[in-house]
Amino acid sequence: MDIYEDKDGEAVNPSTEPAIGEVISRRAMLKGMAAGGAFSLFGCSTMASSGAGAADGSAPLTFTEVGRTTDDKAHVAAGYSAQTLLAQGDPIRPGAPAYNPATQTGADQERQFGTDADFISYMPLPLGSKNSTRGLLGVNHENHRAALCFPGNPKQLTRQQVEVQMAAVGFSIVEIAKDGNRWRVVQDSRYNRRISTNAPMRISGPAAGHARMRTNADPTGTRSFGTFNNCAGGTTPWGTMLTAEENIQNFFSGDATQGPEAGARKRFNLTGKGRYADWGRYFDRFNLDKEPNEPNRFGWIVEIDPYDPNHTSVKRTALGRCAHECATHAVSHDGRVAIYSGDDARMEYVYKFVTDKPYDPKNRDANRDLLDHGTLYAARFEANGKVRWLPLVQGQGKLTAENGFASQADVLIELRRAAEAVGATPMDRPEDVEAHPLTGRVYVVMTFNEQRTAAQVNPANPRASNKFGHIVEIVPPLVGGKPDHGATECDWGFFMLGGDPAKPEHGARYGGKVTANGWVAAPDNLAFDPKGRIWISTDGQDDAAGFNDSLYAACVSGPNRGATRAFFNGPAGSEICGPEFTPDGKTLFLAIQHPGDGSTFDKPSTRWPDFRPDLPPRGAVVAITRNDGGDIGG
Ligand code: FEO
Ligand code: CA
Ligand code: CA
Repeated sequence: MDIYEDKDGEAVNPSTEPAIGEVISRRAMLKGMAAGGAFSLFGCSTMASSGAGAADGSAPLTFTEVGRTTDDKAHVAAGYSAQTLLAQGDPIRPGAPAYNPATQTGADQERQFGTDADFISYMPLPLGSKNSTRGLLGVNHENHRAALCFPGNPKQLTRQQVEVQMAAVGFSIVEIAKDGNRWRVVQDSRYNRRISTNAPMRISGPAAGHARMRTNADPTGTRSFGTFNNCAGGTTPWGTMLTAEENIQNFFSGDATQGPEAGARKRFNLTGKGRYADWGRYFDRFNLDKEPNEPNRFGWIVEIDPYDPNHTSVKRTALGRCAHECATHAVSHDGRVAIYSGDDARMEYVYKFVTDKPYDPKNRDANRDLLDHGTLYAARFEANGKVRWLPLVQGQGKLTAENGFASQADVLIELRRAAEAVGATPMDRPEDVEAHPLTGRVYVVMTFNEQRTAAQVNPANPRASNKFGHIVEIVPPLVGGKPDHGATECDWGFFMLGGDPAKPEHGARYGGKVTANGWVAAPDNLAFDPKGRIWISTDGQDDAAGFNDSLYAACVSGPNRGATRAFFNGPAGSEICGPEFTPDGKTLFLAIQHPGDGSTFDKPSTRWPDFRPDLPPRGAVVAITRNDGGDIGG
C-alpha cells in the first residue's frame, strides 16, 4: 500500500513543515491548555437568533445507549426501528431490473441505486414545504468495491465491470413517501434519476474555460462529463443539493510524473495507480498519457437541482478543487451565504466560501449562480483562540504568477498549494463541517491522523499520533444577534477530543460524563436534529478501537453539553454516514456504507441487510423511526 494512502485512499500533504508562527504558538497553546484553556474549551453557548424556530440543543436525550458490537448486524437503541429503504442495486427507474450481481450491466446500474451511500439530503415535496412524509432523497455514492461486488475478487476488471463501476458511483435522487411509520420508494416518480460518471455537466466560475480545464472531448473547458467519489455534501437555502468530489486521484492511470501537471498531481497524490486504474484501460479520458487535463475537471463541488429532473448539474469552481469532504451552508446576518468544506487528507485545510451577494428567499432563479461569485478562504487556527480566514485571491500575498498562480483558475485548481502559501493550519483530516441552526456555531470534524508527529502538533491539532479524532467549534461574531459567517476573524475552541476518557493515555476530553459505550473514535459526519442536538457518525472505529462504527448524539448546550451517547451501531466493515432528519424530527435517515469491507463477495464478513446466500452485503440507506411515533432522541 502506498504510504500516502489509507484504505479509503485519503492522501497526506507531503509538505508537513509547520506553518509560519506555529512553532511559537504551539508553546502558547500548551500553556493555554494547562491553564484550562485560553480558548473557551467546553464553554457555554452564546445564543444567536438566526434560526427561526430552531432550538438550542439542550433538550435531554432519553434513549438507552446501545452497547459496543462487532457482529454482522446493525443495532439501534431499544424502542426504535431501522428499516432498509434503499440498497445498492435497487431499481429506482420504471422498468429497471432487480439487482442481480451475476448479470448486472452498466445500463442496469444506471437505473438502480448506487453503491457506497454516503451523504443524504431530504428535501420535502412540494418545494418550500416542511412535509415530513413525502420528499426527495439525494444520496451520494462514494465508491464501488470490486472485491465485494464482483465474484472471484478480480484483479483486472472487464469492460463490463468498469461500466458497472462508472454507473454505480455519483448521485441518486429518489422520491420517497411515508405511510404510517414506514417509508417506501416511489419508483415511477418523474424526479428519480442517477447522476454518475457520464452525466453531462456545466463547469462554471473562474476556472471554467481555462486551458488547464480543456480536453479533446471538451475543447471549451466548460462541459464536464459526470461526477464520482461523492463523499459528503450539503444543501443551499434555495433548495439545491451540493455533492463533494473527494478522492478523485484514484480514478486515473498512466504516467503521472510527465508534463506540466506533474507537480499538481503530486500534491493531490495522483499516482496513476489508484484503485480504479482499470478505467483508463477502456476509456481514454482516464488515461493521463492521453488526457492530461481530465483530473483537473474533478475535485469540485457540484450543484444539483433535485426539483428539476431536466436540470444540468453545475461544477462550481469558485469553491476550489481538493478532496472535498462536504459543502455545508450557513446564512450570514446580511443574507450572504457561506459554504464550509474540509479537505479530507492528512495535514490539509479547512475552507469557507462566502458569496458576494445575499441570497433572495423570494426569487429562486435569482440565486442560480450565486456560488460563482465570492471569496474563498482557508482557516488558520491560532493559540489565542482566534481563527483567521485567509483569502485565496490571485495577486494577493504569495498568490502571484512568480509562484505559479498566474490566474484565479490556478489558485482554484491547485487549492492546496495556495492555502499552504497563505499559511493555513494543517489539520488532522478535516471531514464534515456543520453550522448550528440557532447559534451559527460551526463544528468541524477531524477524523484522525495517526501520522502527525509530536513536532507537528499545532493549536487546533494538539495530539501527536491522533488515533481518535476531534471536533473543533468555531464561533462567528454576532451582528445584531445573528452570526457573521463572512467575518475574517472568529473564535474557536474544542467541542470534543475523541478517545476513551477512562484511559489517560488517549488524552480524550468531553464536555460531560461519557459512559464506556458512549466515547467516540474516528468521527466523520455531523447533523443537527430539530431540537438543535448534534449527531456524530464514525468511520474507522473498528481500526481505532476494535468495535463497529456508530452514531452518537450529544447536547450542545446545557448541563449535558458534549456528553456523547451511542444510538446506533453498523454491521461489520461498514461506516456510518449521512445522518439526516425530516423537518419534524421523527425520521432519521442513515447511510450504511460498505458493510463487509475488508472481505470479499465470495466470503463476506456480513450479508447485511438481506442475509440471503445469493446476495453480497449491500450498502443501504435506512430510515429510523421511534416505535411509538415520537421524536428521535427524545
Ligand atoms: Fe469520504 Fe472523507 O470520507
Ligand atoms: Ca466521510
Ligand atoms: Ca471518511
